[in-house]
Amino acid sequence: MPGDVLLSADGLSYRYLDRYPALESVSLDVREGESLAVLGANGSGKSTLLKVLAGLVFCQAGTLEAFGEQVSEETLADHAANARFRSRVGLVFQDPAAQLFSATVSEDLQFGCRQLGLDRAKTQRRITEVAGMLGIADLLDRSPAHLSLGQAKRAAIGTVLVMSPHVLLFDEPTAALDPRTTTWLLALLAQLRASGRTLVIATHDLELAAALSDRSIILSEDHQVIAHTATPRALADQQALTAANLT
Ligand SMILES: Nc1ncnc2c1ncn2[C@@H]1O[C@H](COP(=O)(O)OP(=O)(O)OP(=O)(O)O)[C@@H](O)[C@H]1O
Ligand SMILES: [Mg+2]
Repeated sequence: MPGDVLLSADGLSYRYLDRYPALESVSLDVREGESLAVLGANGSGKSTLLKVLAGLVFCQAGTLEAFGEQVSEETLADHAANARFRSRVGLVFQDPAAQLFSATVSEDLQFGCRQLGLDRAKTQRRITEVAGMLGIADLLDRSPAHLSLGQAKRAAIGTVLVMSPHVLLFDEPTAALDPRTTTWLLALLAQLRASGRTLVIATHDLELAAALSDRSIILSEDHQVIAHTATPRALADQQALTAANLT
């Protein structure tokens, strides 16, 4: 149901190597159908938060629930629970190379489908559909290592979209893209949003946040949530933005 809480994080704290703080007591909800921007300066913890929400990194303190189920290293050790979670929440990394590792783009797209246990016919259908949507049908036999950044970005998004997750997490989606690819990506995000997908977009680009989100949270340089804004318009709250080193 639109408005239902899909992801619920409570008091998340994370330190790399148990030493370097990245998140301090972060709480947030992500609701069905909304587009949430995660704002914050370099190093504030945006990427870490997305990795936590995607179940790739586990916090030392706090809890995360997704679709009413606890998400932890222990719960995701269960194969069925893991597949359920991965089919519901997908992360598009800032650097596409981080999610392309097969000999061909097609194999990278098959990988996620295999994780979900999809049969060959269903996998093929999904790949054809997603490749069409992203304009990468002609790249399927290519090596990901030889693609341009823009092509690799499309392929990396494809590896997530083939799994058809309800919640899509994007880390700095437009970083390092040329103007034409940026325009394409913004249109894709708008299309995903209009189709009812739930989006979480980490960025320090205030214009992008205002254009593509219903509300935002701001992470401070000491890794705490310092503001929840109801609407992008409330981004005009200069005080919070200045405190977060965003203006
Ligand atoms: N692998 C790591 N090992 C140690 N510290 C790390 C690691 N990755 C991130 N950090 C630290 O965690 C903090 C949060 O980093 P994170 O990458 O989540 O921030 P960010 O908001 O995404 O920054 P940016 O805008 O530059 O992408 C930073 O202080 C960073 O130095
Ligand atoms: Mg980052």
